[in-house]
Amino acid sequence: RATDTLDQRGRPLHDLRISVIDRCNYRCPYCMPVERFGGPSVFLKRRDWLQREDLLKIVQSFLTLGVRKLRLTGGEPLLRPDLPELIAELVALPGVEDLALTTNGELLADKADALARAGLKRITVSLDALDPDIFKTLSGGYGSLERVLAGIDAAVAAGLAPIKINCTVLRGKNESEVLPLLEQFRTRNITVRFIEYMDVGTCNRWQRDDVVDSLVLRDRIHAWQPIEPVQAAYRGEVASRYRFVDGQGEVGFISSISQPFCGDCTRARLSADGQLYTCLFGHQGIDLKPWLDSPESLQERIAALWSRRADRYSEQRAEREREAAGRVEMFRIGG
Ligand code: GTP
Ligand code: 5AD
Ligand code: SF4
Ligand code: SF4
Repeated sequence: RATDTLDQRGRPLHDLRISVIDRCNYRCPYCMPVERFGGPSVFLKRRDWLQREDLLKIVQSFLTLGVRKLRLTGGEPLLRPDLPELIAELVALPGVEDLALTTNGELLADKADALARAGLKRITVSLDALDPDIFKTLSGGYGSLERVLAGIDAAVAAGLAPIKINCTVLRGKNESEVLPLLEQFRTRNITVRFIEYMDVGTCNRWQRDDVVDSLVLRDRIHAWQPIEPVQAAYRGEVASRYRFVDGQGEVGFISSISQPFCGDCTRARLSADGQLYTCLFGHQGIDLKPWLDSPESLQERIAALWSRRADRYSEQRAEREREAAGRVEMFRIGG
């Protein structure tokens, strides 16, 4: 689009991911390990959450700047009490072409209907395992597999579609769950996407060895049931998609470690207290609250921040890895 604001690498601002709450009812070890997130003290105070009215002002500015796709996330977004009201207000904004929500599904069975009635179209549920013990461990001990499966059924019944499932794969922890997840969902028209475990944040003690590269998974799946690549649905699609040759469903891979996709990254992120981040691996957010008084200054501020943006963290991490892999051994050149 001619009016798009471009960043330093020529990337337009098309998507806004909105964290509506930073709390979560799970303690997934790769995200909020229970040792670090035992008590409630680390989370924002409720009075520091963006009020809906302010959140809408911010979203409107993003829409004016070219954003068309919104995603509500957390923490766990279903813990936000006024979520249906927020959804209804967001879908009513002119320019919103897509509104999706990411949830762990624990509370979905009771809420799917209200969310659909509020105007939510589609939903992505995180589900790392179908084995109850593995599932429990990967939720930090807090999740109930039965509740999540009931939540997915309720989402289907409420007409939320398409439903996607995100599974973060950790080597040796839930690799065994890849085929069972596909077996369970591909025939129900629910796409499972496998996410490479990422070095995001400071808490998860990420190690490269804990990652199962997507190509390895792809080959394993192909040996089980043949798959073939599908064209990306839109430029900058995060998942690379494959269809099962037998016509029963699709599978996706999100490979930010082995095949980073920063080149097409058109995503901005807004934290629950109104900080703008231009990369998932950002250090410091920029507080948008001081600009809430005037739509023009808010818009100008966001445009200025976006046009300064040069983030490409995942690509840089991959470059460092390649560089390190090529280093000469000390025994070859002397100590
Ligand atoms: P749709 O295609 O619109 O359904 O969404 P999506 O592919 O963007 O998927 P979703 O929003 O569910 O994101 C899936 C996962 O991909 C996230 O939970 C992250 O783990 C990862 N991801 C999404 N966006 C980024 C990004 O900008 N950078 C990195 N490194 N990872 C991302
Ligand atoms: N690496 C990869 N995916 C992660 N998620 C959370 N933390 C990480 C991480 N370190 C995933 C969750 C969920 C989605 C919101 O993000 O599993 O599917
Ligand atoms: Fe993090 Fe999502 Fe797990 Fe909650 S459910 S701890 S937000 S990955
Ligand atoms: Fe975008 Fe940053 Fe993720 Fe790269 S690492 S895709 S720039 S959010």
